[in-house]
This record gives sequence, structure tokens and C-alpha cells, in this order.
Amino acid sequence: MSHAAVIELRDVYKSYQLGAHSVHALQGVDLAVQRGELLALTGPSGSGKSTILNLCGLIDQADAGDVLLNGTDIRHLNETQRTLQRRDTIGFIFQSFNLVPVMTVAENVDYPLFLTGVPLAERRERVAAQLKAVGLHEHAEHLPDALSGGQRQRVAIARALIKRPSLVIADEPTASLDSHTADQVLDLMRERGHAEGAAFVIASHDDRLTRRSDRIVSLLDGRLQ
Ligand SMILES: Nc1ncnc2c1ncn2[C@@H]1O[C@H](COP(=O)(O)OP(=O)(O)OP(=O)(O)O)[C@@H](O)[C@H]1O
Ligand SMILES: [Mg+2]
Repeated sequence: MSHAAVIELRDVYKSYQLGAHSVHALQGVDLAVQRGELLALTGPSGSGKSTILNLCGLIDQADAGDVLLNGTDIRHLNETQRTLQRRDTIGFIFQSFNLVPVMTVAENVDYPLFLTGVPLAERRERVAAQLKAVGLHEHAEHLPDALSGGQRQRVAIARALIKRPSLVIADEPTASLDSHTADQVLDLMRERGHAEGAAFVIASHDDRLTRRSDRIVSLLDGRLQ
């Protein structure tokens, strides 16, 4: 079991119903991502990147095929267990950062630990270490509004990693950033992912990402190229 991929899709199909019409978003996708690996998911708009991320993040379920998280077929989990896996095992990073505007930087990063009932002293230590690792310890008491886009995404990286997830999912994490800032954010994701041993699955149109990833997977019309 210890050698199981962090996330594995086996011959996965997913369609969406649009009125009378079916959109075949994924058509037989096989994919396995290992511990500490940074995988870039590329492909034109509508090729199925976000659909794959939603399946990997247990936000949505496949119509056919298997999805295994750390070796467990997610079909064997009930809704509560899936929610717990999403909370404890998977970190999410979004294009628009999704920070809580009325919480400080430290509170945003702390929030996932607060939710899981980690004792306060340990939370403080872990938050301080994560903020240091993303270079934001001096901004701990600031509100997200006071930060640049790149700094906000660094908060989101710290928040995603604070619970020591085995998997981090990021959908177009650099789309709201200028190119220099995007470089820095991608370097940081790579460095922090490798340091923490978390697998990163990142969907992006950004060529910068493909230069920094351990592996590139290219999608076209719901199939891997
Ligand atoms: N909720 C939905 N309802 C209907 N169709 C959907 C839904 N979500 C996605 N689709 C369709 O499924 C296909 C794959 O979409 P997906 O969002 O995975 O593509 P993508 O590669 O992430 O595109 P983009 O680069 O624009 O984000 C597209 O044809 C899209 O229109
Ligand atoms: Mg998308």
C-alpha cells in the first residue's frame, strides 16, 4: 500500500448533461501521480483539465472507471468519509486565491487546522513555520486586502500545505498573476511540494508551468495525448 500512487485514475469517463445533449468531458483517462511529484495538466480550453481536477479532489465522481486516493477506491467511501478526505488529505489552490477577507493571513492559514481540532499551541507553531516557508511571516497579522496577488497566492499555498496533505490540486493558479509573479509562485509550489512530499496536480495554459513540472500531461477532447 505504501507504494500506491497518491491519486490514480483508471479508464475514467465523465459526461455532463446539457439539456438533451451529452458533453463527453473525459473519455478513458489513465493517470497516476506519485508522492512529491508536480504534474502539469495542459490542453486547450474545454479539453477536460478542470474535470480531472474535480475528480482528483473528490468534488465530483466519475461515470465509469476507478479513482483511487492513496490506494483506496473512493467508491468505497461514503459521503462523510469523502468529505473528511477532502478536508484532511487534499489541499486546494484557486485562480482567485479564495482567502477569507476578514481573517488575517495567519488566521487564513490556521483555519484548516482549527477545523480539524489541532491543539492551539501546535497550530501556532505550524502556522508560523508555513508562513516562514512562503516568506510571509512579516505579514502574519495583515488582512489579504493589504497583499499583492503573488503574496495572496503564497498564503493560499501555505493554507493548502498546513494540514500536510498528500495531494494538492491547483486550477489555473497563475492566471491572475503577472508573468514575473507567476514564475515566483510556480517556483514556490515546486519547492514546497517537494519539501513536504505532497503531489501537486496543476492545470494551466501557462508555458512557465510546463518548464517547472516533473511531468507534463496533455489533454485533447477528454483524452490524454
Ligand atoms: N458543469 C458542466 N456542465 C456541462 N458541461 C460542462 C460542465 N463542466 C464542464 N463541462 C464541459 O466539459 C468539457 C470539459 O470542460 P473542463 O472545464 O474540464 O475543460 P478545461 O480543460 O478545464 O477548460 P478551460 O481551460 O477553459 O478551463 C467542456 O466541453 C465543458 O464545456
Ligand atoms: Mg478549466
